[in-house]
This record gives sequence, structure tokens and C-alpha cells, in this order.
Amino acid sequence: MEEYRVEIPKYCLQEMALIRIVIGCLYTLVICTAYGSTLSSNAEIKVNPPQDFEIVDPGYLGYLYLQWQPPLSLDDFDECTVEYELKYRNIDSESWKTIITKNLHYKDGFDLNKGIEAKIHTLLPGQCTNGSDVQSSWSEATYWTSLQGNLDTKIQDMDCVYYNWQYLFCSWKPGTGALFDTNYNLFYWYEGLDHALECSDYTKDNKINIGCRFPYLESSDYKDFYICVNGSSESKPIRSSYFVFQLQNIVKPLPPDYLSLTVKNSEEIILRWDLPRGPIPAKCFIYEIQLTEDDTTCVTTTTIANEMYITRTSKESQQLCFLVRSKVNIYCSDDGIWSEWSKEQCWKGDPWKETLLFSLIPLAFVILSVLLITCLVLCKHKTVVKMVFPMKKEAFSHQETLC
Ligand SMILES: *[C@@H]1O[C@H](CO)[C@@H](O)[C@H](O)[C@H]1NC(C)=O
Ligand SMILES: *[C@@H]1O[C@H](CO)[C@@H](O)[C@H](O)[C@H]1NC(C)=O
Repeated sequence: MEEYRVEIPKYCLQEMALIRIVIGCLYTLVICTAYGSTLSSNAEIKVNPPQDFEIVDPGYLGYLYLQWQPPLSLDDFDECTVEYELKYRNIDSESWKTIITKNLHYKDGFDLNKGIEAKIHTLLPGQCTNGSDVQSSWSEATYWTSLQGNLDTKIQDMDCVYYNWQYLFCSWKPGTGALFDTNYNLFYWYEGLDHALECSDYTKDNKINIGCRFPYLESSDYKDFYICVNGSSESKPIRSSYFVFQLQNIVKPLPPDYLSLTVKNSEEIILRWDLPRGPIPAKCFIYEIQLTEDDTTCVTTTTIANEMYITRTSKESQQLCFLVRSKVNIYCSDDGIWSEWSKEQCWKGDPWKETLLFSLIPLAFVILSVLLITCLVLCKHKTVVKMVFPMKKEAFSHQETLC
């Protein structure tokens, strides 16, 4: 007789387990929904969105005010502090900035080359509503500055440098689509100024403004600095350009001064230099050093002290030169511009040794040879004379004797 064994395939077992899980889940879901519906009965408390939400441009070239009024019928929540959740961004930017505030306004800087969108809703915290937080629907607002003029009329290649943390200079090129009668004007603003100011000292090319030398900018560091370059032309509107930066991030220091290079022993060298002149504190610098040994090896290193100990790669090197440049370091700014390179400072190996090695030895050799030859010649001559003289003497003595 044959025995039948029913084997349940493995995958079937798995499937059965899965079905059990699914059923379990559905059960939980039903319970959850039931419980949730009791919660939602609490959440029937409703609140209105803020009123009159708007984005206001006070003429600060990018610094905008977002403002609103409290929602209608707030009286039901007299005991509560209402909060607002505000979200805003430049159109096209990926992420929203989120602020939670109890105030009725908020201020921040924006890039006016693009539009701005913002939304806000009212928040009732849990303690006002027996547990769950309640939110209103969103109020929305957008803002665009007037974007008149074609893109090719706006300035190009704007470049601003804050020289030695003292003098701000900006330069630009006219737009490719700008006609000969176009001229550009620069306006700037930062927190502390009552209103936007126009540049008072333009640099010009053919009567067209292509740069601005700023006056002394009092307490302007670590703040957003807003610039707008707009323009005018008889024939067509000119597109404005907006820029925002912080002055401490575009500082270009002077190069360090008074470099010195001391060879302590055959291997160790000390490089020293003075701080660049000006108002930048010593703790704000980073230096880059370029060391050249005998025109060949170049070592580039950075340091935040104004001296550096370096070991020579070769004891025989006859010439060591170095240059330094400076930049504002990360303790004082997020970014910076390298200064020009300093003048080069060099050290030359013992000049006498060199002369001795490369010129005195051959010279000595030549002199010695000359001496030797003369000597030889002279010596030979002497023996000849000697040979002649005694004969004469002999002859004389002969004569003497003869006499
Ligand atoms: C909160 O619950 C209490 C009693 O449980 C009730 O009297 C009160 O009206 C509730 N408040 C709100 C805002 O629903
Ligand atoms: C340029 O911008 C300034 C500052 O916002 C403004 O006062 C001026 O009217 C503008 N000029 C033109 C031609 O748009």
C-alpha cells in the first residue's frame, strides 16, 4: 500500500502567515478609526486664518515686511495665546522657511530678482482645545517688484569687494541690450539706514556708470547689505538687478608685510611676517605660504599664526624663498577673498662657501699650476745658471791663480 503524505508547500505557509497579518492589521485599523472618530469630535473646534495677510516692501531693496491681523471670532479662545505658523520662500526655491510667532508681523530679507510667496495659518495650542492642536486654513500672499525691461538690459558681472574691511567697491558691465543713452544707478541699504541711499561716487566709462566707490559704511558688518542697480534710458525700460551679501564675507585684505626668513640650523627655518596694515584684528587672518627651495620644490601651506617653522627638504639647498598672502578666516566670516601675494623674501646659502666651492678651488688650481710651472721653469733655469756659473767662477779662479 502506498502512503499519501500531504505536504504543504513552503510558499503556502508564508502566504497563510501573510493573510493572518493582513487580518490583524484590518482589525487594528477598525479599532483605530473608531477611536479616531471620537478624537475628531474634539477637533470640531475651528479657528479662522489670519486676516489681511500681505507682503509690504518698505523700499529697502529686498528687506520685506510680512504682516497680518488676528483671525475673526477669536473671542471663543479668550484664555488662549494664539500662535501663527508662517511659511515663506522665494518662488523657485526648494524649501520654505518656517516661523512660529505670536506677533502680527515678521521681517526678513529676500531676493527681489524673483517673486516671493508666503502663507500663514492660526494655531491653537492643545491646552485651549482639550488636547489636540487646532490649525486654521492657510492665508496666502505673493509679491513681485515691477519687472520691467528685457533681461539683456540689466547689468552683468557685478563684482563687489570690501578692501581691507574698509572700502567697498562694486563694478559691473552694461547689459548687452542696453542702448547708448542708458545709464545705471546704484542704491544700497542695510539695517541702520533710514532709507536706501544712492551711490555718491561712480566710476564711469564713456559717461556710463560702471562702478561705485562707497563712502565709509558705519556699523555695516554682520548685516545683510542690499544693493539694487537700476537704470534709465529714453528708448526702453531697463531691468533692475538686486544683490544681497554680508560685507565681512567679501573682504580682500592687504598682503602681509616685512617678511623674514631665518635659518635656525641646517634643517629648521623660521618664517615670519607682519600683519597686513588696517583694521582687521590679528585673530581674523589665515595665511597661505609658498616656499621655494632652489627654484624647484614648492610647498604651499596655510596657518593662522604670523610665523611658521618649516624643515628644509634638503640641507644642500642654496636658496630659500617664500611669499605669503592673507584672507579672513572662518572665525570672523563665512567666506573671503585672498589678498595679492606679498613681495618675495629670500635666503641664500653661505655665499663664501659657494664662491669657495665653485670659483676659488679652480682659481687656486690655476694659480698652483702656474706657480708649479714657473717653479719648474725657474728651477731648470737655476740648474743651467749653476752649471754656467761655477764654470765662470772656476775660470775666474783660474785667472786669479794665473795672476
Ligand atoms: C474641554 O472639556 C471640558 C470638559 O471636559 C469642557 O467643559 C470644555 O468646554 C472643553 N473645551 C473646549 C474648548 O472644547
Ligand atoms: C531705482 O531704484 C531706486 C531705489 O529703489 C528708486 O528710488 C528709483 O526710482 C529707481 N529708478 C528707476 C529709474 O527705476
